[in-house]
Amino acid sequence: MKKKLVGVILSLTMVASMLAGCGGAAADTAADTAATDTAATEEAAPAEAADAAEATAEAAGDADLADKKVGVCIYQFSDNFMTLFRTELENYLVAQGFSKDNITIADGANDQATQTNQIQNFIADGVDVLIINPVNSSSANTITDMVVDAGIPLVYINREPDADEEQRWADNNWNVCYVGCDARQSGTMQGQIIADLGIDKIDFNGNGKVDYIMIEGDPENVDAQYRTEFSVKALEDAGLEVNCLDDQVGMWDQAKGNELVANSLASYGDDIEVVFCNNDAMALGALQAIQSAGRTVGTDIYLVGVDALTEALEDVIAGTMTGTVFNDHFSQSHSAADAAIAYVKGGTNEHYIGCDYVKVTASNVQEILDMVK
Ligand code: GAL
Repeated sequence: MKKKLVGVILSLTMVASMLAGCGGAAADTAADTAATDTAATEEAAPAEAADAAEATAEAAGDADLADKKVGVCIYQFSDNFMTLFRTELENYLVAQGFSKDNITIADGANDQATQTNQIQNFIADGVDVLIINPVNSSSANTITDMVVDAGIPLVYINREPDADEEQRWADNNWNVCYVGCDARQSGTMQGQIIADLGIDKIDFNGNGKVDYIMIEGDPENVDAQYRTEFSVKALEDAGLEVNCLDDQVGMWDQAKGNELVANSLASYGDDIEVVFCNNDAMALGALQAIQSAGRTVGTDIYLVGVDALTEALEDVIAGTMTGTVFNDHFSQSHSAADAAIAYVKGGTNEHYIGCDYVKVTASNVQEILDMVK
């Protein structure tokens, strides 16, 4: 069921600095077919012949995945979305033939030095492929150099390195790629969910504008930058006038989202018409603050997130969240595993492997919930 629906959703598609505060948001091979030397295999002694046959089979793409070691680095285990991602990634790798014992997943604890150390340990351990969700995307250059020097193929996930870094992979023909969705699309969908309500339903204070607050994820992360920028752009593109009352960094975290939105509601009160959160965890925190302040989503305020966490989907069904955007962790984890498998089997990948987000509102929420549950 999941696979079928994900298959439908999956499609291969194809920064600037950010300041907290309103208006300061983000600006801006197919498998190698190695030649086989059958003559040598035939003439070799039995043991050598077996080795040669194995090497030939591997080069032809039949490597036995059960013996291959995969190192996975996750920026932080406590992140809700990355927990869904890594669980699905591990399950899928096992389903494809890897042994669970040969898959090691490390928690970077949101500290780049810790993660760099983990990568060095994976290299020393001789893993066959690395899948890395970097703590800091800006460290990708250093990480790539380390891993490429060790002759290990590398699949980046979730936190996209910058364009210069991706260009290096292509220029050097390295076995390095990135799997993820284009965060601009998720921001645009958030803005559209609000814009589609129409100004008359949004403009509770009657000033003719969409008065909003923005709760951002980690500013180092392009997902946060683009969601912040493109959610507002979608409102403007729909012809709406916007007014940012507050813009704060909640680091993808529910408790921080709660605290920041509580503060904003205390400062700006009924003037806040829309709460944009760069992800659902922060939106769930925001919802607690909204309810504690005696406000009602759908009646006197709107709330949108991204990810489609189960709890957020249940809130959309209950009307306590206006909408969210499905961040397809099935598609992303499967594509990342497939890319890793292609490398392990001696093949290559496109350097950028994309996927699509899905807008979630009351009209399709049940379908998405059935899929993720
Ligand atoms: C985003 C996701 C966030 C958080 C972040 C971590 O794509 O929406 O919830 O998990 O990745 O980098």
